[in-house]
Amino acid sequence: MFNKIPWPQNLDNVEELYSWAIYSLFESVEKHSEGTVIVDQNADVVWINSRYAARFGSTSQNAVGRPVEEVIPGSQMRDVVHSGRPILLDIMETKGPPLVVMRLPIKNEQGGVLGAIGFALYDGLTPFSPFVAAFSRMKRELDSIKGVLVHERRAKYSFQNVIGQSPALLELKNKARRAAQKDVPILLTGETGTGKELLAHAIHGASHRAGGPLVCVNMGAIPESLMEAEFFGVAPGAYTGALKNGRIGKLELAEGGTLFLDEIGDTPLTMQGKLLRALQEKEYEPVGSNRIKKTNIRIIAATSADLPEMVARKAFRSDLYYRLNVFPLKLPPLRERPECLPALTERILKDVATHFKTACHGLGRDALALLAAQSWPGNVRELRNVLERAAMLAEGPILGAHELRHLLLPANATPSSSGRQSGESAPERIAGDYNEAMRAFETEFLRQALAEAGGSVPLAASRLGLGRSTLYKKLKTLSILS
Ligand SMILES: Nc1ncnc2c1ncn2[C@@H]1O[C@H](COP(=O)(O)OP(=O)(O)O)[C@@H](O)[C@H]1O
Ligand SMILES: [Mg+2]
Repeated sequence: MFNKIPWPQNLDNVEELYSWAIYSLFESVEKHSEGTVIVDQNADVVWINSRYAARFGSTSQNAVGRPVEEVIPGSQMRDVVHSGRPILLDIMETKGPPLVVMRLPIKNEQGGVLGAIGFALYDGLTPFSPFVAAFSRMKRELDSIKGVLVHERRAKYSFQNVIGQSPALLELKNKARRAAQKDVPILLTGETGTGKELLAHAIHGASHRAGGPLVCVNMGAIPESLMEAEFFGVAPGAYTGALKNGRIGKLELAEGGTLFLDEIGDTPLTMQGKLLRALQEKEYEPVGSNRIKKTNIRIIAATSADLPEMVARKAFRSDLYYRLNVFPLKLPPLRERPECLPALTERILKDVATHFKTACHGLGRDALALLAAQSWPGNVRELRNVLERAAMLAEGPILGAHELRHLLLPANATPSSSGRQSGESAPERIAGDYNEAMRAFETEFLRQALAEAGGSVPLAASRLGLGRSTLYKKLKTLSILS
């Protein structure tokens, strides 16, 4: 394609030598490349070698004059023409193996861009092969991880999964459906295990953001020192030890979708301020970056703590509380809606049967009465745990009260209940082996501590002499919190 330049007569003539060097560089790259393409300043193809055109199902003749992307899908030659800057090494994906490409602008003497030339290097340059193979492998892995993450970040539950027939629950579902349609912050309050996270999924799934991600963050579970990075992300190379490529924050992950802030009452005060600013301004700066990022997310916050009380003792910022409390939804505790028990137990036993291959699918009347007399401090989560254990141990298809009684914690019986406690003075024998007994004790101990702290994990942690995230982990392991 090039007119051959004669070998310089005089090797001391730098200009002649330079021209030769350039010519020889282009000649050898062209010879060893998979393809060469030249475009004009409109990024229309001016010339393409037949090898390269054939790779994209075209011929040199009919490629000429067409926009480069039409001939080479995904080509970035247009960027080079627009920016005037070369892309010295890049990987371009094609239907076949990926190509290592080099793209250079062609400029006139004044520096104006006339067009660009692109080389695709692959087979001829075997040193690149390991690099390309590694890229292809990483790309495949990344694609599959992205697929999993997209799936993970969809709403897993809908309103259909929110079970219960009590008037209070039906009204809550109605209100929540209406709230889903409005793009305003929602604050879910209610004791632990009442279904706040479940409802957050249902709301996201019924909102116009359902196609976007749902990102759930437990504010109590993140160590305070990592909070800012978790939320706002970290710019590449922001500080020693930061990942080379930076880190994506939760706000960015939730872009276009919903960010669910669980246990919002456990947010440290410093973070409350930063969060408020990001929500108010709808923008933030990643750690170590001076570039502002815009956000477009809907916030659903949840708490089992008494936020107004926390505001009163200055443990929670009032301005953040008002910003989150635009559409409040209160989830009633299970003890106040025993009408929900039949439907709930039926569904839970069905789930358990599918998951654990148990044969148990119903409750006897005495069993239902026993469950209705409990106070359920851990609400539906606790009910699920009890039914799960009972179903595993059950002998027949219908659970009787005698099969449930020993699984219920003594403190759970409501004062009015005429259950096993009446007339009993000897302490209840704790069932199970040492580990089971310790687990039962720890569960009860931590549950009480949490209740005495008004549901606030940080307060309970400081009273117990435990770290905030340590206590969180324990509460999670023991299924006291999700
Ligand atoms: N109304 C309900 N119908 C069905 N399952 C429920 C309901 N409420 C809670 N659950 C179940 O109870 C458990 C705890 O619910 P979760 O949403 O994590 O509660 P919270 O966030 O309020 O602590 C989950 O397994 C959830 O699916
Ligand atoms: Mg929860």
